Amino acid sequence: MQYDGIENKVAIVTGAGGGIGEAYAKGLATQGAKVVVAEIAKDNGSRVAREICDSGGTAHFVEADVGSPESTQAMAEATIAEFGGIDFLVNNAAIFGDMKLAGLMTVDWDYYKNFMNVNMDGALLCARACAPSMIERGGGSIVMQSSTAAWMGVGFYGLAKLGMNGLTAALAAELGPRGVRINAIAPGPTDTEALAKTAGGYADTLVAQLPLSRKGQPTDMVETCLFLLSDASAWITGQVINVDGGQIRRP
Ligand SMILES: NC(=O)c1ccc[n+]([C@@H]2O[C@H](COP(=O)([O-])OP(=O)(O)OC[C@H]3O[C@@H](n4cnc5c(N)ncnc54)[C@H](O)[C@@H]3O)[C@@H](O)[C@H]2O)c1
Repeated sequence: MQYDGIENKVAIVTGAGGGIGEAYAKGLATQGAKVVVAEIAKDNGSRVAREICDSGGTAHFVEADVGSPESTQAMAEATIAEFGGIDFLVNNAAIFGDMKLAGLMTVDWDYYKNFMNVNMDGALLCARACAPSMIERGGGSIVMQSSTAAWMGVGFYGLAKLGMNGLTAALAAELGPRGVRINAIAPGPTDTEALAKTAGGYADTLVAQLPLSRKGQPTDMVETCLFLLSDASAWITGQVINVDGGQIRRP
């Protein structure tokens, strides 16, 4: 599907070196956006940017750590230097594939602080770095990557995603009057290498209980992301949209 308001826009996708973020970056490039692949894993990020360019799209790799104020600021500056400004931000990056599995009562405190810094505060740092350019250009749109885990009480991973939902609501109120919309996507179990590594068996149990009984594919998320960035969602902000095969059903 072709979405109005994406062609020639400048989009940063964090954590776009693989999995769902790679699908977001490639989906945006297919719509004619100029895409910054912002990723901490250098080889993966540069591969995705190269593949987009090789298939006729426009992309630029920026090495970035979303947990660092200096790095996110440098990411925004590099984007402006390359493409002239910023219209869209997809806050997808997270520690996920190789995350430690531990309870809130037992997780190592330094690990917990760094995890929350990357998986929750990182999205705020990126928004703070990118929103000024969006505002200067007359508006923009931000998509936050949440998870159905936000509603499942699953330790610090779920807590960080609940924080993403809170940020979505709070930033929507703060930035809406300046023309920037913020919405979140909450995927259910989605077929990526990271999911297989972290929670393969658990995910299979969840999938068996889904009304739409299959795993999500990264491409399932892409349409919602494009919709939320495009003009088609011009009067939608502060919302969390589940793309989860019916996993979370809220009457
Ligand atoms: N796969 C699923 O089932 C699922 C379900 C719900 C939500 N999610 C969320 O979707 C997003 C992508 O998940 P995925 O399955 O593609 O996993 P993934 O591990 O492939 O993607 C995360 C990406 O973020 C990058 N990253 C990690 N720390 C970073 C940092 N500090 N700065 C910049 N980049 C960093 C990683 O290198 C990786 O490329 C994550 O936010 C995850 O929590 C995934």
